[in-house]
Amino acid sequence: MSKENKRQSVCIIGGSGFYDYLKNPQKVKINTPFASNPITLYQESTSQNDVYFLPRHGGKHSIPPHKINYKANIFALHSLGISRVIATSAVGSLNPNIKPGDYVLIDQFIDFVRPITFFDGDFSIELPDGVKLSGVVHIDMTEPYCSEIRKEAKKLLMNTDVHVKGTYFTTMGPRFETPAEIKALQHLGASVVGMTNSSEAILCREIGICYGVIAVVTNLGAGLQTTVNQQEVLEIFESRSKYLKKVLPEIISNLPLSKSCSCTAHLQDS
Ligand code: HPA
Repeated sequence: MSKENKRQSVCIIGGSGFYDYLKNPQKVKINTPFASNPITLYQESTSQNDVYFLPRHGGKHSIPPHKINYKANIFALHSLGISRVIATSAVGSLNPNIKPGDYVLIDQFIDFVRPITFFDGDFSIELPDGVKLSGVVHIDMTEPYCSEIRKEAKKLLMNTDVHVKGTYFTTMGPRFETPAEIKALQHLGASVVGMTNSSEAILCREIGICYGVIAVVTNLGAGLQTTVNQQEVLEIFESRSKYLKKVLPEIISNLPLSKSCSCTAHLQDS
C-alpha cells in the first residue's frame, strides 16, 4: 500500500452551537458549481488523517437551515477528496426517555419535506472508486447512515447517556414545531426532530461519501416541555459539544481506512 493510501480525509460538520473544532486550522476556500461564493472550510493534518471542519450554519450561526447550500457544501467535500463525514446535529426529542443532554446515534431518517438531489437530470460525476453516475439516479437508502461510524462513536460515548439508534425526522424550520406536529411525528415512528440532517446524508450518499451523525438532544419537542427556546438549544448543544470535541479525534483515528466505505459500496449497482 502506498503512503498516500494510509491516510484518509475526514470532515466534521458542526451543528448549532459547534462553531470551531480544530486547534490550528488553515482556511480552505472551494469553488463549486452550486454557489457564486466559495465554501469555507478549516483544515488540519494529523499524523494519520487530513481533518476538515465545516460549520453548517456558518461561524456565527448566520445561515438558517432553509438557506444552507447543502449541494455546494457537500460538493466541496467531494472536491477535497473527503471520504468520511461525521456530522453533529442538535435535535428535539419526541420520546421522554431520550432526554436533553443525551446523545443519539441516528440510524434512520424520515424526510418528506425537502426534495434534494445532485441528479437533477444533467449532473454527472465520477466517484472515488471510479463508478460514473449521471442523469436521473435513484439512490438506495436502506442504510442511510454509516454503521462503522455508529460503532466507533458508540465505543467512545459508552459512558454517557447514549442511544445507539434513533430515527430523525426532518422539518423545514426555521420555526420549531407545534405540539400537534410533534404528536404526528411520534405516530410516524420518529424519535427525534431536527431541521438539517437528512439533506446532508442524502447528498453524501449520492456522491459516495460515507456519512454518520452524532445528535445531541437539546430539548423535548413542543408540547412535551413548556416552550422550546433557541437559547436553551444552543447552550445545551454547546455544553455537549465540549465532550464531543474531546472524543471525535479518537473516533476518527479508530475508523477503518477506506477510500470507499461499505456504506457507499452499493452505489456500484445504481
Ligand atoms: N425541533 C426542530 N429542530 C430542533 C429542535 C426541535 O425541537 N431542537 C433542536 N433542533
